Amino acid sequence: MAVWRGVIARYGDRMAIRGTDRPVTLNEGGTPLIPAPRLARALGLGCELHLKYEGLNPTGSFKDRGMTAAVTDALAGGARAVICASTGNTAASAAAYAARAGMECVVLVPDGKIAMGKLAGAVAYGARVVAIDGSFDRALEMVREASDRAPVVLVNSLNEARIEGQKTAAWEIVEALGAVPDWLALPVGNAGNITAYWRGFREHHEATGQGLPRILGAQAQGAAPIVFGRRVEHPETRATAIRIGNPARWSQALEALEQSRGEILAVTDDEIFDAYRLAAATEGVFCEPSSAAGLAGLRKAVRLGRIDLEGRTVAAVLTGHGLKDPSSALDCDLRIEKVPAETEALLDLMQGAPA
Ligand code: F0G
Repeated sequence: MAVWRGVIARYGDRMAIRGTDRPVTLNEGGTPLIPAPRLARALGLGCELHLKYEGLNPTGSFKDRGMTAAVTDALAGGARAVICASTGNTAASAAAYAARAGMECVVLVPDGKIAMGKLAGAVAYGARVVAIDGSFDRALEMVREASDRAPVVLVNSLNEARIEGQKTAAWEIVEALGAVPDWLALPVGNAGNITAYWRGFREHHEATGQGLPRILGAQAQGAAPIVFGRRVEHPETRATAIRIGNPARWSQALEALEQSRGEILAVTDDEIFDAYRLAAATEGVFCEPSSAAGLAGLRKAVRLGRIDLEGRTVAAVLTGHGLKDPSSALDCDLRIEKVPAETEALLDLMQGAPA
C-alpha cells in the first residue's frame, strides 16, 4: 500500500463497527516488528524474538488501534461525548480521537498513579481530566455507571469496537513475519489486549487454515488477579499502566490462555524494570515499564522450565512508548555524569570507566 491511512482504511472490511466509510483516524497502526537478537540473548530465551513496537502509534500506545474504532463507531451512532477510566494511555488516546471527531471527552484516573507523559497528552488533547482517590478498578465502576445514566459512550475495552480495532495488530504481525509466530507475549492489565490478539489470530486461522500462536501473558506480582485466581483489592506496582486488580475481560483472558495452551505468570517489579532497561540498552527500543512485563514473563517462564523456546519464533508486544514515563527511566537509572565545560575534562572522562 502506497500510503498508510490507519487500521480502518486497511482492515475495516473485517471489523464489526459502524462508520468505516468515515473513519476518525490519526493513521494509527502499521507499527514495526523489530527483530531483537541481542535482547533474546540477554534474556536467555534461545528463540527468534521480534518486538511489536506499539509505542510508535500516534499517541504513543496500542490503545490508538482500538480508539479509532471506538470513536468512529460512537460518532456513526450519533454520540457527542465519550468517557473512560484509565491508568493513562487509554485517557490520552480517547482524548486525541475525541478531539479529532469534535467530541467531548471525560477521563477518570487514579490520582497520583499515572505517568507524566500520559497526563500531558490527555490535557493537551483537551479532555476533562478527573482524578479520584481510588484505583483504576473503582474508576471503571464509576464510568460504567455514568455511561448508563448520561448520554456518553464508554470507550474502555468493554466497548466491543475497541477489541475490533486492537485485533488488527495480530494480522500485522502475521503479515510482517510471513507466518504465525509460535508464541505471542504481552502484559495483561484489564485484559482487553489479550482478548483482542486472540480474536485476531483466531479469525486469521479461520480465514486461512494457518495455525495459532500460544499466548504468554504477564501481570505484575502486586496486581496479578488472573495468575492468583482472585481479585486484588489494593493492586500495587511501579508499572502503573497495569496496576489493576479486577480485569474487565478476565474470562476472555482465561479463554485465550486455555484455547492457546498458553501461560500466565506474575513478574516482580524488579524483573519488569530489568527487562525494560535491557530492551532499550540492547536494541535501542525504549518502551514504558509495563510494556516490558511480557519480556520479563518470557524470561521467567524459560528459567522456570515452564516453556521451551529453543528455535521458536516469538513476538513480544511492547505496548507503550518509553517517553510516556520519563521519570521511570531517570529514577531507576540515573547515569548522568558531570564535567567542567572543558574538552580536556571530557576526554579524561571518556578514558575512564563509565560511572
Ligand atoms: N501496557 C500498557 C502500556 C497499558 O497502558 C495497558 C493498559 C496494558 C499494557 C494492559 O492492557 O488492559 O488491555 O490488558 N492500560 C489501560 C489504560 C488500562 O487505561 O491505559 P490491557
